Amino acid sequence: MSIEKTLSIIKPDAVRKNVIGQILTKFEGGGLKVVAVKMKQLTQTEAEAFYAEHKERGFFGDLVRFMISGPVVVSVLMGDDAILKNRQLMGATDPKKAEAGTIRADFAESIDENAVHGSDSQVAATREIAFFFDTTEIIP
Ligand code: CMP
Repeated sequence: MSIEKTLSIIKPDAVRKNVIGQILTKFEGGGLKVVAVKMKQLTQTEAEAFYAEHKERGFFGDLVRFMISGPVVVSVLMGDDAILKNRQLMGATDPKKAEAGTIRADFAESIDENAVHGSDSQVAATREIAFFFDTTEIIP
């Protein structure tokens, strides 16, 4: 095991449902520490840049529209194997396939509106954390 940091986004659907606190509690209960956090309204340019790897996918336009449809909460989570742990706590991308008790099973409606995003690798975590946070904003 190694101590890692990973990037989480609580998406507009979950913010609208008023479950920010319940989701942060799942992270904390799963052994992750919130070491940076802010609420943000993404611009179209920011959403397109953040999800650039998906720009050829058919769902890209809908994804960007959804991600700018309201505020998001971005955070840096730290802990043992934080990247994998966060993905386990989130559950499968498609909430219909997510295990009971996971964030997506509890709070998400569909693959398009799936409550949370989490970095899927060390490379992605480094890029995604730097996308939203200066190093001075991360306080372990
Ligand atoms: P996320 O982890 O934020 O990464 C990209 C997002 O695209 C994903 O969650 C889903 O919300 C959304 N998406 C929509 N359709 C698909 C799909 N077929 N495969 C993967 N992601 C999808």
